[in-house]
Amino acid sequence: MGIFYQKETKTFYLDGKGYSYVFKVNEYGVLEHLYFGKTIAHDDVSYIRDRGTNSTEATIPGIDDGDAFYNRFMPEVAFFGTGDYREPCFMVRSNLGDRLVQPHYHSHEILETKPQIDGMPSMSGEQTLVVHLKDEIIGLELDVYYTPYCDAGVISRRIIYKNMSNDTLELLRAYSFTLNLARNDYSVMSLYGGWASERNIETIPMHRGVVSIDSKRTTSSATLNPFVALISPNATEETGSVYGVNLVYSSSFALKVEGTHQGRTLVTGGINDFDFAWKLESGETLETPEAVIAYSSEGIGGMSRAFHDAYREHIINPRYVKKPRPVVINNWEATYFNFDVPKLKKIIDGVKGTGIDTFVLDDGWFGDRNSDRSALGDWVVNEDKLEGPLKNIIDYAHQNGLKFGLWFEPEMVSEDSDLFRAHPDWAIGVPNRKRCYSRHQYMLDLTRSEVRDYIVNSVNKVIRENEIDYVKWDYNRNVTDSYSIELPADRQMEFAHRYALGVYDLFERIVNANPDVIFEGCAGGGGRFDAGVLHYFPQIWTSDDTDAEERTRIQYGTSIVYPLSSMSCHFSVVPNHQTGRIIREKTRADIARLGAYGYELDSSKFTDADREMVAKQVDEYKAMQSLVLKGDLYRFENPYESNYFGFTLVSKDKSHAHITFYSRINRPNSEPKFIYPTGLDENKKYYIKELDTALYGSTIMNVGLKPELARNCGDFVSNTYSLSEI
Ligand code: DGJ
Repeated sequence: MGIFYQKETKTFYLDGKGYSYVFKVNEYGVLEHLYFGKTIAHDDVSYIRDRGTNSTEATIPGIDDGDAFYNRFMPEVAFFGTGDYREPCFMVRSNLGDRLVQPHYHSHEILETKPQIDGMPSMSGEQTLVVHLKDEIIGLELDVYYTPYCDAGVISRRIIYKNMSNDTLELLRAYSFTLNLARNDYSVMSLYGGWASERNIETIPMHRGVVSIDSKRTTSSATLNPFVALISPNATEETGSVYGVNLVYSSSFALKVEGTHQGRTLVTGGINDFDFAWKLESGETLETPEAVIAYSSEGIGGMSRAFHDAYREHIINPRYVKKPRPVVINNWEATYFNFDVPKLKKIIDGVKGTGIDTFVLDDGWFGDRNSDRSALGDWVVNEDKLEGPLKNIIDYAHQNGLKFGLWFEPEMVSEDSDLFRAHPDWAIGVPNRKRCYSRHQYMLDLTRSEVRDYIVNSVNKVIRENEIDYVKWDYNRNVTDSYSIELPADRQMEFAHRYALGVYDLFERIVNANPDVIFEGCAGGGGRFDAGVLHYFPQIWTSDDTDAEERTRIQYGTSIVYPLSSMSCHFSVVPNHQTGRIIREKTRADIARLGAYGYELDSSKFTDADREMVAKQVDEYKAMQSLVLKGDLYRFENPYESNYFGFTLVSKDKSHAHITFYSRINRPNSEPKFIYPTGLDENKKYYIKELDTALYGSTIMNVGLKPELARNCGDFVSNTYSLSEI
């Protein structure tokens, strides 16, 4: 595995776990894509070009030869204006006003260590190929990066755009990659949603023309995740070829899938070019976010495992990624803003002896914050409400054996706040225009360094002056009124990307500057769940919807890309605060423990029996936690397609497994239901604790298990099985 260059044919072979990626410098000096798919030998595969069209097209400039046209082959970086009519990877306007480019091969280098992106999160990695492309006429250079991985079925891609001319260039689009695929009959999978309903799966047939998945919200958002998959015909959850693309990016993005008349597919994307233009002065560069591209010959499940491995090994902070996470009690659903010290103490008292190890004080502890209408930005402890310094409540948690966590929403400002009264111009907005409210609040202009400095200093002050072990970083609205009073008029369309750079600067200076504190991401539920955030936050609040039935779909959808350990999942009270649904305690615990587990309820009301129940649940979670953190996920029942949900978590050596099966609606006298978990070792014999029996993996997977679904057991029933090799 690795990067190989064959001089004679000028061909690059990039071999990663389970795939080959092949392209060459062709006779016109263009990087020509040849193959991406299941591992192949280092053969000369340039013959595939002849599958292209034979019609007459615009020739490569200056070559009056009917065979020489860009549309005849697949440029690795698609470009505009000279005959490639597909979605270009970039668009640039020269000082003449023209938009033509011919980025031809100039040179390449193979780096032994993958360089990190300046100012943006990216995967760690080793051998990296950088191909330098140049348009000699306008002086634009592209550094095209490829990092194959041997420990995960992914390749990462990105481009740096450089203005090497003496003139100003304007980028009208600056995507991170072009991906060419050899056929055009895939299905396109994406993840859509909204508040309390994040990451639903949608799969549509692709067509000639463009399928576009994007965000215009200056955040990755719950509307559409920065992810798309191309599923080959007949591929299933565990078989067939599937490609996935996920951006390591947290602002407005675009991903486009284009089916072409040549029988091929082009995928491209990166920073959204909607409401975007970027000036490159002479000598300036623009770094683009990384695209992580997965290939799986083991279906959709294989693609998910490729992303999970990649993110656990190369994106999420190694200090936390595989370490047991805090089991928290969070006071939000217990009190909302309405708490006082005796109430908080009772919540802490309530969890004594349960194994819950961290108390998280949510929104409402600072400034004059007793509702969502005030005080965001005033990161000063409300000593009246807390009857003294924060230390008092922290000490109380410590005396009761609990660590302490605190909520912040650093990117925001309330109109009714000392911060806004002092610096109204720090809120994003266009002078002389009224701003949009959302949750009664405004957003701070993170493109400005003085605004970022204020946030860093005030948040870090609270963290450093107190013994804080855990921070929940919330973000409850999206950007409107895109404008910064500090940017010149001709750079205003750089706002969305500059906001992202501002966010990452905050993450560096707050999250990375407090390495002993574990940070949880949050965005009005799971509204900013992306690999950029995961680089700093090992776990993200998955959704404000904690109803177990809803969570089967939300967690299933999220698991398409993101590992279970990145999903914060809490057991909550019934009737559920979002749905009013009543689901039994076992099911709520069984579903919530498929992530970073915790509690979101009023523990001051716990009886001794409740405490006993919670202690048992926490013990059970601890017994399977290492599978959540490090195991492979195999999904065997899809709640989007059936009445059921099924996950098997299997240790890498296949010696241990945890099976979760859930049935939504109980139907009397229905046909018997068997489950067929996947991912076990057929030749290993497993002891199944709940059945007190031992069976071979082959038996469990093929004969199946019969879950307990008694005639009168009610709806929303779960069964779990703990397997260990004997
Ligand atoms: C939205 C989050 O998702 C909730 O968990 C809670 O922290 C509130 N914000 C607080 O305002």
